[in-house]
Amino acid sequence: MDNNNSIADKINGARLLIKSNFAELEVESDQQKQLPQPPLVKEAAGGSIIKLSKDFSDIIKESDYLSLVNERKSHRVYKNEGISLEQLSFLLWTTQGIKEIKGDNYATIRTVPSAGARHPFETYIAVLNSTDLEKGIYHYLPLGHSLEFIKSVDKLEDEVSTSLNGQKFAGKSSAVFYYSAVPYRSEWRYPEEAHKLILLDAGHVVQNLYLSCQAIGFGTCAIAAYDQKLADKLLNLDGKEEFLVYAAPVGAV
Ligand SMILES: Cc1cc2nc3c(=O)[nH]c(=O)nc-3n(C[C@H](O)[C@H](O)[C@H](O)COP(=O)(O)O)c2cc1C
Repeated sequence: MDNNNSIADKINGARLLIKSNFAELEVESDQQKQLPQPPLVKEAAGGSIIKLSKDFSDIIKESDYLSLVNERKSHRVYKNEGISLEQLSFLLWTTQGIKEIKGDNYATIRTVPSAGARHPFETYIAVLNSTDLEKGIYHYLPLGHSLEFIKSVDKLEDEVSTSLNGQKFAGKSSAVFYYSAVPYRSEWRYPEEAHKLILLDAGHVVQNLYLSCQAIGFGTCAIAAYDQKLADKLLNLDGKEEFLVYAAPVGAV
């Protein structure tokens, strides 16, 4: 009985989380208190940097919008084909690319929307099979549209699968996009609402990934059923100020 009650409490709490409380906000935000704004992006960690191009003319295979939307689906089987740097660059640009910086470093305007332009995500990529990059974990640096090499990992395919709760198809992809949240970026402005907004924001990112994959003859599959601890460990995330919220393997289809 107690167990049932605590599950019901959890469900009620979670339902509250996805409702809007904007009409009855009581807590003063750190922004209103004029506390310093957190950095717009996570800085590079000192690894080698790979500059990315924004010339995507050679890789687009389908640009008819209605075809992209109509043909979008989740793909869990991929060809054994390496992803090129241009293809990675395209997928990074269309999901998190920075088009403009507003005010005095107040906000980034990107290829996806984000509540209050807080853009709370960092993108990591486990590169498994690439024509241009060595295997390993990379971090996207959106301010300079570049990639930073973070580390090599033994048996990366297995680590990727276990980090995604044993979803083995991910280990057979060319690369896995891992999206972490840095919640304070949103909490600074929306202390109570941030968590709902972060999840709404994440949907836009991965929808762009789906459509962008479709445009270059690739496929992806959104993954929410991942192993939080193993995934955070694989990406060197502290699990508190930054942690995984979404993942998506990509590969040629
Ligand atoms: C938020 C979210 C989480 C998902 N998590 C997983 C997952 O962990 N594993 C998986 O195989 N598919 C996952 N999917 C893919 C769905 O199963 C898929 O979108 C659904 O079956 C509809 O198929 P379609 O995308 O081909 O239209 C997820 C999709 C979304 C939007």
